[in-house]
Amino acid sequence: MSGKDRLVIFDTTLRDGEQSPGASMTKAEKLRIAKSLEKMKVDVIEAGFAIASPGDFDAVKSIAEAVKDSTICSLSRALDKDIDRAAEALKNANSSRIHTFIATSPIHMKYKLQMEPDQVVEQAVRAVKRARSHTSDVEFSCEDAGRSEIDFLCRIIESAIDAGATTINIPDTVGYAIPSEFGETIKTLIERIPNSDKAIFSVHCHNDLGLAVSNSLAAVMNGARQVECTINGLGERAGNASLEEVVMAVRTRKDLFAVETSLDATQIVPTSRLVSTITGFPVQPNKAIVGANAFAHESGIHQDGILKNRETYEIMAAQDVGWHTNSLILGKHSGRNAFKSRLEELGIQLETETELNAAFSRFKDLADKKHEIFDEDLQALVSDTKVPD
Ligand code: KIV
Ligand code: ZN
Repeated sequence: MSGKDRLVIFDTTLRDGEQSPGASMTKAEKLRIAKSLEKMKVDVIEAGFAIASPGDFDAVKSIAEAVKDSTICSLSRALDKDIDRAAEALKNANSSRIHTFIATSPIHMKYKLQMEPDQVVEQAVRAVKRARSHTSDVEFSCEDAGRSEIDFLCRIIESAIDAGATTINIPDTVGYAIPSEFGETIKTLIERIPNSDKAIFSVHCHNDLGLAVSNSLAAVMNGARQVECTINGLGERAGNASLEEVVMAVRTRKDLFAVETSLDATQIVPTSRLVSTITGFPVQPNKAIVGANAFAHESGIHQDGILKNRETYEIMAAQDVGWHTNSLILGKHSGRNAFKSRLEELGIQLETETELNAAFSRFKDLADKKHEIFDEDLQALVSDTKVPD
């Protein structure tokens, strides 16, 4: 035992991720992703929003039947009919969770719900009790918590825990928070709510200001023990916190985080590829962890460092997150060392320093004309350079 707390990884690629415009998936596609998430040892898979459509119901039901090692969750508004539909879809799961939510910010209560705060608390309590009549694992979310008043959050959360909620989720629904402020919110909630020790505090951050991962990590530093996230950061508008970034941040900086996850990180890249192929959303080359360039080095100084000791320019090993290997890209910034090392890997022997120098100089000329030099280019270039026997 490491003595560290467990950080629950709650993946919502199949629910919030699917809410990304253009990312809707078939049941068969969702099942493939769910199996991949299970293989990766994700703790909770939010499989969909059962009442949203017959197709969503079917997908949640099939995932609940096919996936046995992760908890399967369905979203529901704080309404009896939603909660009962979620329970129906989840009934064959090994382990199920109902996730119910209601908005708590002044703007949402006034314009969207058109309800008084007292009514919102009453409906939340009723919903949590209803969900508890179906399962012992109930998550309650305060939608738009990032713009909600702290006193009201304390009040509704205390009531939700009393009603039986076992996870309390604090969403930054519109990606408005900044890390220091969001971390402080989590700390204050945990300190001020008298029964906070009866529930796990969770966060669900959107990326409208590009801060979803930073906000999630600030929350973890202040006591959150579940993070809701998606593969490749897929999700509504600018997306959700990216699972791969959150997991690798707490792993790589274990000196700073008092938590550990059960995730098999070697499944990250295969799952990222699967999600990208299914949704048709490409992963940007410079995306952390899963982008094609995340472990690729082009400059001569960096390549030389990597060849001497990988850790000079890498804080994680490519293989740890499921890449086959890191790579030294040969281009105009590359140095002699990387050039020589690639020739050796290709089994090309240059007899003399003169031959090597000539080949390197031809390589530099070619690299000025081409973005990347491939192995075939090297073969051609070297056969032109070699002095005939
Ligand atoms: O962003 C959000 O507030 C949500 C909730 C339903 C958890 O997705
Ligand atoms: Zn969301």
